[in-house]
Amino acid sequence: MDNVLVTGGAGFIGCNFIRYLQEQCPQSKIINLDALTYAGSTENLTDLPSPERYTFVEGDICQYSTIEKIFQEHKIDTVVHFAAESHVDRSIHGPGQFIQTNIVGTFTLLEVARHFWITKKEEAPQNTRFHHVSTDEVFGSLEPEDPAFQETTSYDPSSPYSASKASSDHLVRAYSHTYGLPITITNCSNNYGPNQFPEKLIPLMIMNATQGKPLPLYGDGQQVRDWLYVEDHCEAIFCVITKGKLGETYNVGGDNQPSNREIVQSICRILDEYFPNSPSHPHKSLITFVKDRPGHDRRYAMNIDKIHQDLGWQPRESLESGLRKTIDWYLNNGSWLSKVSQDAGYEQWLQKNYKER
Ligand code: NAD
Ligand code: DAU
Repeated sequence: MDNVLVTGGAGFIGCNFIRYLQEQCPQSKIINLDALTYAGSTENLTDLPSPERYTFVEGDICQYSTIEKIFQEHKIDTVVHFAAESHVDRSIHGPGQFIQTNIVGTFTLLEVARHFWITKKEEAPQNTRFHHVSTDEVFGSLEPEDPAFQETTSYDPSSPYSASKASSDHLVRAYSHTYGLPITITNCSNNYGPNQFPEKLIPLMIMNATQGKPLPLYGDGQQVRDWLYVEDHCEAIFCVITKGKLGETYNVGGDNQPSNREIVQSICRILDEYFPNSPSHPHKSLITFVKDRPGHDRRYAMNIDKIHQDLGWQPRESLESGLRKTIDWYLNNGSWLSKVSQDAGYEQWLQKNYKER
């Protein structure tokens, strides 16, 4: 891994991964290609351990010539592909951009990698790898008694977001089968931690609770997600790109499956402890049940035996310790939160799409 192209490195998981990779691989050069959509910010990358080994390129993964130039100039041997539209709610309000970025963007990246690593094989660097970062949502929804998703579970996506990610997974596998492109895929459950844009459940609840605003739970709040602290996800990806078998898929998850209501109550409990004199105490009084998300998947759970047995990875953080770290980070980074929300026009987006709140 001399020259690593990270796509979407200005987003939540990507920026945490770049920091993680810099710490693990002092020799690697990292090129971050990011379009700086509402979800990406250079504010996420101001504290890199080795800025001299990092290059930022503002650009779109749908643009062949931009990616081609990066491969040419930097002799890319590894791609770690995060760039995507990632928010299920936004995919319901406007699916078009999800098709473009998640499907056409992944296809374009694959085409450039195929050109440089397969068609011009004799000039290609050694030990190339295209790692695709995907989601558990491709498997659809579980009933309460169903066993957790395995790597062999059939795809059954429900939302435009998960359908677009499923499509990109299929393309990545097709490039391996058809052209021999060296690929790996991880399908991961819900991440939380520092630098997550406040549209997602956990940062949204922390932000609203500290401001005394309602905590909107969709439907009955009994939906279940499998929560993973973002640094654990970064470590899992690192394990796969360094030790994972080419052509393989690995499930990644946190072995933590609270209902949405339970997780929000945990956040409220920790905030009650931190702010016993807050006018919002007890913070759980802010919980408000709102109209459900259309097509809302009921339950996700990941079977992580394969990555554990084959590569020795397992999550380090418990939900309690991870939530405390996350809450501390948001409380200490209020100016980051205001800046990214303002730059992204988040308030306006909410008003346009959720007039009822
Ligand atoms: P994010 O929305 O926080 O960040 C996405 C990044 O991609 C942003 O920096 C954005 O600017 C960039 N981007 C978007 N469109 C682009 C384009 N056309 N060209 C270049 N860059 C573009 O997302 P995230 O939560 O960090 O997720 C990263 C990846 O991990 C996604 O592929 C997502 O599907 C996957 N994933 C996320 C989770 C999760 O819980 N967040 C879980 C499993 C998998
Ligand atoms: O499972 C992995 C996926 O997790 C990733 O692939 C996605 O990129 C990521 O956004 C996330 O998707 P979710 O839809 O699960 O995340 P979100 O934070 O939007 O919602 C988590 C749960 O909380 C879900 O059941 C919907 C619910 N929810 C969410 C919001 C924003 C609420 O009840 N109220 C809310 O306001």
